[in-house]
Amino acid sequence: MNRSQFLLFLISTLFSASCIALSPEAIEGKSLYPTCHVCHDQAMDPPLGPPMWGIKRRYKNNTTDNEDFVKSMTNFVKKPTLETAIHDEGVEQLGLMPPLPLPDELLNKIHTYILEEQFPPPCTHWAIAVKRATEKGDLEHAKKEQSMLDQFCKK
Ligand code: HEC
Repeated sequence: MNRSQFLLFLISTLFSASCIALSPEAIEGKSLYPTCHVCHDQAMDPPLGPPMWGIKRRYKNNTTDNEDFVKSMTNFVKKPTLETAIHDEGVEQLGLMPPLPLPDELLNKIHTYILEEQFPPPCTHWAIAVKRATEKGDLEHAKKEQSMLDQFCKK
């Protein structure tokens, strides 16, 4: 390995480590995440909850920093209400999420994991949603889901 190859190796190693390394709190949160995945698994047909990828995007856009992200999610998950729900499409398609009254400490860990995890775009979910909307004759909705597929899942 010459000098520039070595530098490239070093940079790519550091870069990938910084992308995948979870904090100790997030690692604990990850072990509790199956509590959410039972409904938020993007591959379910029919779905029981919207994929975490889109929820995370919405929360990122609606909160000021990491602490606000974690706290807002904990407040919602303990006591979901129509007033505090920001995933309008999820509420419309699936109804309001049932409350999960777990201790704040555990929820904060799960939500730190959600904050740090790099969820891949939910391509299986969008493909299922296109199929379901088309079967129902809701072509407008099918088009919307198809545009997500086109935008994020083209190889
Ligand atoms: C019984 C199924 C179920 C479980 C378990 C579940 N969810 Fe949900 N969740 C839903 C559904 C359905 C929605 C879409 C409706 C809504 O937004 O309330 C949703 C929406 C959400 C939202 C978006 C809320 C908004 O602003 O509209 C968040 C955040 C969320 N879930 C987090 C979690 C976390 C974190 C867990 C695990 C601790 C979890 N959910 C477990 C069904 C579930």
